[in-house]
Amino acid sequence: MAMQAWRAACLAFDPEADHPIVHYESDGLLVAEPQSDGVWRVVARGPYAALRPQWPQVPVHDWRGRCIAPGFIDLHVHYPQTDIIGAPAEGLLPWLQRYTFVHEARLADPAYAQEVASFFLDEMLRQGVTTALTWATSHPASVEAVLEQAEARGLRWIAGKVLQDRHSPDGVRDDTEGSLRETEALIARWHGRRRLGYAITPRFAPSCSDAQLQGAGALAAAHPSVWVQSHVAENVDEVRWVRELYPHDRSYLAVYERFGLLRPRAVYAHGIYLDEVDHARLAATGAAVAVSPTSNLFLGSGFFDYAAARRAGVRLGLASDVGAGMSFSPFATMRAAYTVGRAAVRGDGAAKAAVSLTPEDLWWQHTAGAARAAGLAGVVGSLAVGSEADFIVLDPEATPLLKRRCAHAASLTEWLFAFIVLADDRAVAHVHVAGQPHNFTQRPSGRNEARA
Ligand code: GUN
Ligand code: ZN
Repeated sequence: MAMQAWRAACLAFDPEADHPIVHYESDGLLVAEPQSDGVWRVVARGPYAALRPQWPQVPVHDWRGRCIAPGFIDLHVHYPQTDIIGAPAEGLLPWLQRYTFVHEARLADPAYAQEVASFFLDEMLRQGVTTALTWATSHPASVEAVLEQAEARGLRWIAGKVLQDRHSPDGVRDDTEGSLRETEALIARWHGRRRLGYAITPRFAPSCSDAQLQGAGALAAAHPSVWVQSHVAENVDEVRWVRELYPHDRSYLAVYERFGLLRPRAVYAHGIYLDEVDHARLAATGAAVAVSPTSNLFLGSGFFDYAAARRAGVRLGLASDVGAGMSFSPFATMRAAYTVGRAAVRGDGAAKAAVSLTPEDLWWQHTAGAARAAGLAGVVGSLAVGSEADFIVLDPEATPLLKRRCAHAASLTEWLFAFIVLADDRAVAHVHVAGQPHNFTQRPSGRNEARA
């Protein structure tokens, strides 16, 4: 198929900047074309009036009244936990023991893994998420399931097998040597295949032996384009436990650094209880934080300190962290991030600066900023010329209240904030994966219908 174009308002970002630089056209045109690898990329983006005469032959989909925006990027999400969202517990460690490990053991069944993976990917797309760093479970077949399904949908998607060889119950605990061999085999099979990527996935320091972390670090060094994902400094009891397990390391983050697990494309969820030295090490090594506000609110983990992390130059982006996270919707995550920014405490009694994150900033953290944090700047998340054509079409009339509030927006800033505060999946009218309209297999409510 040849070139195609879409006419609507258009929101885009500078792909390389370390802060949100917005490119907005109220009457814009996005032109995309399939490349030799079969992936559609953006060939032009700008004002309709200026661009249309350059491509008079190209068919234009007329979406005036709506807004094209980059597909959202979720920096940290557990697909096997789709079926345990909303499981209440007295904090992280009881939640893991009581629900999470018990449920993840079920992913040993490849048929169940396939079914959950399929539902999960369609749900992510329905919400406007087109790329994610995804956790499977410790069972290799759970990785196969989600990457097979992602490949079938043409997605740029990253996933990894969880490493957890200790302090984990039967059913999810893996074997040190075997887990590393399985990781290597999964990297060989999946990393760089079509638009897929692999992430080396040590669950967290307490669940991995020294030998397993050492093996993970060796694989991370041998495969620099492979991602690394883990959890760090999420909860006060977890941090205390790590201090007991690793009394000779300066901090929780220092454990990962000792094993070679801080580097570009390493993404750590939470990062609430980090100090100045930790922030400096993240910034110096190029590792990033996946801020997970709905999860931190649900488990009562604490409030991320944006001012301190940013002062040090830490790369960060937003994540749902489902199933501790409360929603797959990027709007819910951005909304929570805003309220978390306003908090003046961290969660352990320490004070932090209250910040008012701008809507442009919140949106950037879930698109181009997340891409930059994950080493995907210019590939997805920005709609820059040359980047892959993963985009969504937003409908400001999706609900009566959203329509009313957007009509009163005096600026782009107000309009974006209206979406962050009021929107949900109903506002995502279309989702395009590499230029192609995604046909939702689950019929959503409202106006959310795939249409070419
Ligand atoms: N720490 C270790 N495992 C997990 C998990 O599955 N979810 C969260 N939120 N934190 C973790
Ligand atoms: Zn997590």
